[in-house]
Amino acid sequence: MSLRASKVKSQEYVGKEVTVRGWVHRLRKQKENSFVLVRDDRGGVIQCVIPTSKAADLTIESSVEITGTVSQDPRAPEGGYEIKGSNIKVFNVAATDYPIGEFQSDELLLDKRHLALRTRKMVAMAKIRAILLNHCRQWFVKNDWMEVTAPTIVKGAVEGGSTLFKLKYFDDEAFLSQSAQLYLEAMIFSLGPVWSLTPSFRAEKSRTVRHLAEFSHLEAEAPWVSLEEILGVQEQLVSYAIQSTISDCSEELSFLKRDVSALKKVTPPFERMPYPKAIETLRSKGFMVTEENGSRREIRIGDDLSIDSERELTRNSEKPIFVVGYPMAVKPFYVKEDPDHNGIGLAADMLAPQGFGEITSGGMREDDISAITGRIRKEGLDPSSYEWYLDLRKYGSVPHGGFGLGIERLMRWITNVEDIKDTVLFPRTMSRAYP
Ligand code: 4AD
Ligand code: MG
Repeated sequence: MSLRASKVKSQEYVGKEVTVRGWVHRLRKQKENSFVLVRDDRGGVIQCVIPTSKAADLTIESSVEITGTVSQDPRAPEGGYEIKGSNIKVFNVAATDYPIGEFQSDELLLDKRHLALRTRKMVAMAKIRAILLNHCRQWFVKNDWMEVTAPTIVKGAVEGGSTLFKLKYFDDEAFLSQSAQLYLEAMIFSLGPVWSLTPSFRAEKSRTVRHLAEFSHLEAEAPWVSLEEILGVQEQLVSYAIQSTISDCSEELSFLKRDVSALKKVTPPFERMPYPKAIETLRSKGFMVTEENGSRREIRIGDDLSIDSERELTRNSEKPIFVVGYPMAVKPFYVKEDPDHNGIGLAADMLAPQGFGEITSGGMREDDISAITGRIRKEGLDPSSYEWYLDLRKYGSVPHGGFGLGIERLMRWITNVEDIKDTVLFPRTMSRAYP
């Protein structure tokens, strides 16, 4: 039986014979002995010393199985344990032009992503992501939310037509889903509070460090909730997921040089900042926006928040902030208008601290059939393609709400990486669908 490096590197195995399997991560051939740093299939590494006569044709990334005796040697890299190999089996001698080395351009690492997955940074990212997703799921399970799956091939826009991917669907056309929200809204009538984790697609024409064309969307929806309850769910979920992930991933986060003391402060409650206060704060800092014709002016009530304004708002905050009560005009058709404040939507975004910006959007949904039909028309959408959705307002409509959270946005904040592409193994952007 073969063991992983992390298992072998312990007192328990010193003096014992073990077998490890993996890939040649680093290689130093000397006259008598060769020093092979073997990387196992979870990214752990251990040094193996084998007679050079048995390692003659070894190359970087060759796949091997080495059997030998474990010894402790303070000079051995990566923890002071090594294997004195007596037997080596080579599965495949890797070609000598392995393109990933120590220093690479970001572009090359993206072009060769199928190989760059073997770097320790990508392994760390993948582990953190798996653990984070597990904790998110645990939170929903513990709090009695039902996991559901919504289709990703759909007939209508949720978040505006400009970012829809169109596809040929047999003899018809369809779109890739931007959000599962409308489907989750249908489910709450028979399933109660539901949540899903599905890919969402956005034909984002902008190249930014926080937009992907395909992202993992965690969404939740519940009947008979208030806006405040929906915010409560988000702050509980995000705090729980972060605290459990940093406690499980200290090694990976320290490898990524993430200062977790900042993340430890992420506990409920998060500030609720009314939208007018957000604008006022930005104005007091002299924050400017660029008009479509290129002219610059001070930000004012009615403007949507941009990446830059969100960065400015959260630059010095320690915890996420909810911006609450956006103008109806900057939010999609489904947002419920505040009955006490004309033109204000019962909608909120969660902005992550230290400049990371929006990670969730959510709020109350319009549950009145004539109001929502009017808003669908106003957005230039065709109410006939939303007939099924309008039925939900026709047969036993209830106050309800929910939210969507971008997993890669959350990952970007937790791991403190600049570019969202680094949080996903095979990123999809405007300029990249390969490999
Ligand atoms: O703000 P968005 O567009 O809201 C919705 O889609 C709602 N229908 C969700 C709901 O209420 N069920 O997207 C929600 C979140 C954003 O806050 C962001 O974290 C992430 O999804 N997101 C993206 N992440 C990466 N790349 C993109 N292009 C993203 N667009 C949205
Ligand atoms: Mg949003």
